[in-house]
Amino acid sequence: MDFELTEEQRMVQETVRRFVEKEVKPVVSRMDHQGIFPRELVQRLAGIGLMGAFVPQPYGGAGMDLLSYVVAMEEISKAWAALSVIMSVNNSLVCDPIIRFGSELQKRKYLPRLAGGEILGCYALTEPCAGSDAGAIRTRARKVPGGYILNGSKIFITSGREAGLAVVFAVTAPEQGKKGISAFLVEKGAPGFRVGKIEEKMGLKASDTAELIFQDCAVAEENLLGQEHEGFKIALVTLDGGRVGIAAQALGIAGGCLEEALRYGRERRQFGRPIGDFQAIQWMIADMATEIEAARLLTYRAAWMKDRGMKATREAAQAKLVSSEAANRAAYKALQIFGGYGYMRDFPVERFYRDARITTLYEGTSEIQRLVIAREELKGAGS
Ligand code: CAA
Repeated sequence: MDFELTEEQRMVQETVRRFVEKEVKPVVSRMDHQGIFPRELVQRLAGIGLMGAFVPQPYGGAGMDLLSYVVAMEEISKAWAALSVIMSVNNSLVCDPIIRFGSELQKRKYLPRLAGGEILGCYALTEPCAGSDAGAIRTRARKVPGGYILNGSKIFITSGREAGLAVVFAVTAPEQGKKGISAFLVEKGAPGFRVGKIEEKMGLKASDTAELIFQDCAVAEENLLGQEHEGFKIALVTLDGGRVGIAAQALGIAGGCLEEALRYGRERRQFGRPIGDFQAIQWMIADMATEIEAARLLTYRAAWMKDRGMKATREAAQAKLVSSEAANRAAYKALQIFGGYGYMRDFPVERFYRDARITTLYEGTSEIQRLVIAREELKGAGS
């Protein structure tokens, strides 16, 4: 058993740390509070290979392993979760299903543009009546000669306003339930496809979350992703990878909280000494550090397994469950250590506290992760 990152993974970590210090930290507070979408930073992320991290090089990607991507996600999330979710959706929820299920034509057409930052991707599964119960979607794709006509709407779509390409799930055979869902690649600008309501959120202020509306939207047959009626499996396989990305995001937010708490614990003096000298603060720091380590081991293991082509449904769900819950506890503790200052926008812990909250919700709530883990255990998929 080897717990060391490889030389290449360490290089990715160092590169991203430098990028975060130089490019991200100086702008994050202002841009997040003003809700400015970080277009330029997304371009720079593409420049260092992080918008198509594990896209094979022949398709314009960086060809990294998943663990390198996870390490990069963690570093970016320590500074700015709104930026890392844009990266995560593009990589895990859009590039990944195209790599796995796309035709050669789709790969050549879309992967270089997604990896190069020319277009952003979004993943359109959720609907008003289909959140945790994703198989209950109602958006309809009616077969017509040469393609399909889409009607329906999607909500809470990360990067929905900015994206140039959407992976859209729609019902092609209503009588077959979950086995009658298909996946489509729909380009922005397709007639009948428009962006609706933009959500105002508690956190992730600089990342857009949008409603997508399809009204008699024509999609060519060549834009069917994978086989017809294979869509629900594509959605769930894709989410296995996505959950590893969100676990890494949560790990990064927790890590950011710990870094801030340590700095403040050393600097802030009360009762004549640094507050880090008090056991009350030390215990919080010890719990944060230990939970982060546990979450990191689960997250890296899930990525490691996927890098080896192993099914990691259970491990991805465990990583996301543990990391996201740890991130929320870490954010609570960091804010507590900062006291009243932590409640003010002058310090990043206020943002970490709000941003951590989404990680137990999107890409499957903690309750759905438990359901997935328990089902896998009962199937005998556990170790
Ligand atoms: N990989 C491959 N196949 C899978 C699978 C997986 N991980 N999980 C299930 N399947 C298969 C099952 O074996 C089954 O196939 P068969 O019938 O052939 O055996 C089929 O898929 C249907 O599975 P279930 O019967 O288990 O489906 P279900 O309706 O009970 O739902 C669920 C399963 C896990 C609850 C699923 O609906 C789910 O994950 N819900 C949460 C939705 C979610 O995470 N949404 C996220 C939205 S995207 C987002 O949040 C992005 C963002 O903003 C950043």
